[in-house]
Amino acid sequence: MARMINVSDNKTFALSNDFFSYVFCVTEEGILQHVYYGPPLKNPLEVEIHHLRTQREAASVFQGGQYFSLSDTPQEFPSFGTSDYRFPAVHGRNHDGNTVFSLLYKSYKVKDVKPLLKKLPASRGGDCETLIVTLSDPLHLLDVELYYTIYKHHGVLTRSAKFKNRGEQELQLQHAFSSSIDLPPAEYEVLHLHGTWAREFNEERIDVPKGRFVVDSARGTSSAAHNPFMAIMHKGTTEDLGHVYASTLMYSGNFALSVEKGEFEDVRMLAGINPFNFHWRLKPGKTFCTPEALHVFTDKGLGRMSHIWHNFIRKKITPERFANVPRPTYLNTWEAAYFDIDQDKVMDLAHQAKSVGVDMLVLDDGWFEGRRDDTSSLGDWRADRERFADGIPALAAKVKAEGLKFGIWFEPEMVNPKSQLFQDHPDWILHVPGRTPSLGRNQLTLDLSREEVVDYLFEQIDIILSCGDIDYVKWDMNRNMTEVGSAGLPKNRQREVSHRYMLGLYSLLKRLTCKHPNILFENCASGGNRFDLGMLNYMPQGWISDMSDPIGRLQIINGASYLYPTDTMAAYIGPSPNHQNGRVTSLQTRFLAGFFCAARGLSLNEADVVEHKDELFKYIEMARHSAEDMIGGRFHRLINNGNEVCWQLTTADEKTVYLLYFHILSAPNLPFRRAYMMGLDPKSEYLMVEDGTSYNGDALMSSGLALPYVTTGHVKDNIRYMDKGDFSSYLFIFKKEG
Ligand code: DGJ
Repeated sequence: MARMINVSDNKTFALSNDFFSYVFCVTEEGILQHVYYGPPLKNPLEVEIHHLRTQREAASVFQGGQYFSLSDTPQEFPSFGTSDYRFPAVHGRNHDGNTVFSLLYKSYKVKDVKPLLKKLPASRGGDCETLIVTLSDPLHLLDVELYYTIYKHHGVLTRSAKFKNRGEQELQLQHAFSSSIDLPPAEYEVLHLHGTWAREFNEERIDVPKGRFVVDSARGTSSAAHNPFMAIMHKGTTEDLGHVYASTLMYSGNFALSVEKGEFEDVRMLAGINPFNFHWRLKPGKTFCTPEALHVFTDKGLGRMSHIWHNFIRKKITPERFANVPRPTYLNTWEAAYFDIDQDKVMDLAHQAKSVGVDMLVLDDGWFEGRRDDTSSLGDWRADRERFADGIPALAAKVKAEGLKFGIWFEPEMVNPKSQLFQDHPDWILHVPGRTPSLGRNQLTLDLSREEVVDYLFEQIDIILSCGDIDYVKWDMNRNMTEVGSAGLPKNRQREVSHRYMLGLYSLLKRLTCKHPNILFENCASGGNRFDLGMLNYMPQGWISDMSDPIGRLQIINGASYLYPTDTMAAYIGPSPNHQNGRVTSLQTRFLAGFFCAARGLSLNEADVVEHKDELFKYIEMARHSAEDMIGGRFHRLINNGNEVCWQLTTADEKTVYLLYFHILSAPNLPFRRAYMMGLDPKSEYLMVEDGTSYNGDALMSSGLALPYVTTGHVKDNIRYMDKGDFSSYLFIFKKEG
């Protein structure tokens, strides 16, 4: 069988599958030079290596080599101090204060598996090969192992680095990136996803400027401000055309993704832990593993890029046991009752949920000792006996006796000063001596870099989950970190706290999800403040935003879909007027905005459910019937122009195609619009369920489908109309014939 990783005698390394080729070589100076990343090549080992050996004043200095400079050499893992002036992948200092690093090629191995990353989440192996190249700094006695995994059936390349101190003195790491890729000069654009609370995942697309453009986080979470995603693409790239180089990280803390356009128009992409305020002391004999960086290349535009990510996330990242499991519909108590909740109200909501066909009742915030508002009790994970007199296990059993599943909310990483936990362990929070810890939503962050804190949380949560009637957990996290310091670490290791926190969090998640494999975990951090592949490795779905207004949510889903499959997203029918922005929308639009998300539900109070019972019943029925289709489908962004959004989802078996169209603000005398569908079989016929008309696949793609018309009056017969007015929505369903 042809191998995906090949190495030539003169030390050229080629990784190649049906999606891409990636080539690098060892120069005569021992530098790992990047050679090629792009469409698959027939003979990748034979690709021309561009030897850039021109003499340029001031820069041509590499250990006496007059005609060689690292400043214009594309590299695999650059360091600083020997003629490369761009931002390096590795930097730090040794015990002498020497900050010059020089990593030279030492050896390589190829494995047919994907080695695990110590204490960090990682994508799973299977049908893959891994190349491990060891570089070494002969002076600092630092070895760096570069890991590259290529998959037979995926266009994703994963990379990580492992640093090992082979010397007898401590080394200090300041930059410990996971990967660096140098691309050749071209006109590039960069796409990234930025936002804030309730407005996550906004797209920004700009020309790659000269200099460095960085998206990062120093908040302790991957954050809503910048999701860990960056796509560099040829200028003018569309959904189905153009070269795209996209990166993300399997990490939920302080990350950095950057693109740097250098003096010779070369472009460097870096991915890894944010070097700002990071500092790791590497004792002799110790190793440090970076989080996994993931890269996608395609020459078929942003749509294809998304499909590669989506397939990979489903197959190799989210927990396997939920991969093909349709998600239950649920009623969540938050926007229904907020903190005004007790066991009778839960039961009332459970009855209402059942009456409209919902599968699960989720008890959100407010159930634990003394929790009447957000000023107290986080950390005391025992039922509030005044309002939940029978306790959680009994309540869960009662809800289940109604024929529903039962889910519960936790915010394990936090503590309120007003809590028993804080009284007992005031030093268990992130803090620095002499400074008052800042409160965020009246709460402090527990110090998960300490093992005893992680153990405590495991025990407390485990007690509740072990009652046997919990089907789902919503894992929330509602503030960014400040005063990041730990009483558990010495003074000179305080800049390790943020990363050690993540290791603690991952170990807690691993222990809980392994012990309770059948519980469905949903990730939440005030919505999308920590929606990333690290969290998705433990939890198959996430509450991507607190924005429950459907119109506000359209952009959030659209932006998130560049990287994340809609299978990982949760959406509710929320109240109208909406609690975040006051907008009034129809129940239909509230339902359809989240229709492609695998996890669908309601967050409505009893009166709302009663008032809209029949309509809700219909929608929950639709959600149940389509639940299987929302797993594994192919999502296409067809239109997103500020006033219209149109998406298509083709199911995994290709038999059903859904088309959703949203028209935001209405106006008279609008043009007639068409949707050019994508990825259909050009030779097949597609039957529109609504009116039984058959359409040719090629025509639906090339000539398009007439979209329903929004108008203030009737303009013509024989055309399809949407609801009059603002915020209207329409769903088409096609069945492939034959
Ligand atoms: C923030 C979450 O995003 C909400 O959905 C809700 O769970 C609240 N926290 C509860 O405090």
